[in-house]
Amino acid sequence: MEKKELLYEGKAKKLYKTDESGVLWVAYLDQATALNGARKDAVNGKGALNNQITSLIFERLKDEGIPSHFIEKLSETEQSVKSVSIVPLEVVVRNVAAGSFSKRLAIPEGTALAFPIIEFYFKEDRLDDPFINEDHIRVLEIATEEEIAEIKRLAQKVNEALLTIFQKAEIRLIDFKIEVGRDEEGAILLADEISPDTCRLWDMKTQAHLDKDIYRRDLGDLVPVYQEVLQRLAD
Ligand SMILES: Nc1ncnc2c1ncn2[C@@H]1O[C@H](COP(=O)(O)OP(=O)(O)OP(=O)(O)O)[C@@H](O)[C@H]1O
Ligand SMILES: [Mg+2]
Repeated sequence: MEKKELLYEGKAKKLYKTDESGVLWVAYLDQATALNGARKDAVNGKGALNNQITSLIFERLKDEGIPSHFIEKLSETEQSVKSVSIVPLEVVVRNVAAGSFSKRLAIPEGTALAFPIIEFYFKEDRLDDPFINEDHIRVLEIATEEEIAEIKRLAQKVNEALLTIFQKAEIRLIDFKIEVGRDEEGAILLADEISPDTCRLWDMKTQAHLDKDIYRRDLGDLVPVYQEVLQRLAD
């Protein structure tokens, strides 16, 4: 397979066309951002780590019967994926209170939730990705009622699988964000990435942050932490 023209340059990845129809080439970048890109730094080695972690996780999810865009890892920093039409939602699943949820509702970080909460944010940079509900999604024609139900089922399944995967690595899955897309037949597929950039991960014993909060909160160097996550997942 050959890499063709650049399709999209995001904050974390570059997407290229390929000579195969329906297949994209994703290159993970050595860049960390926060506050919707307002803060940006070069971080050597981050692209390779996120590519490897995402590839490993999508492989494991496939073993659990979860459909995704992931095809294969092509190199340290690159992977091939099925091209989908991204549903403009950030689907967040929360097992434990943290981040914006804790702030908005004054629930201390680390409080376990009685059951996993699914939240939707409208993926629209100009609006700063606002929090929306299922009625908004239907009225704005972002997705149909049936698709919303399908997306929620998928998010629940991903959560259950990830909880097991991270538990084995002695990591507590606090919350995470997924993106989904429609394939050519209109089926909903898990897309984008699942990495320490998109999950909150705490060490089970020490509760130390093993995710992008290291960068957001200026807690030190992110690379050794992501390395630790990859190492524990691979063991
Ligand atoms: N299989 C796919 N097909 C098409 N687009 C995809 C696929 N997987 C992920 N994407 C999109 O590719 C882009 C990935 O780049 P990156 O994560 O760097 O974006 P970003 O800076 O977070 O910006 P955005 O606000 O667009 O998500 C995202 O817009 C994501 O929605
Ligand atoms: Mg992104």
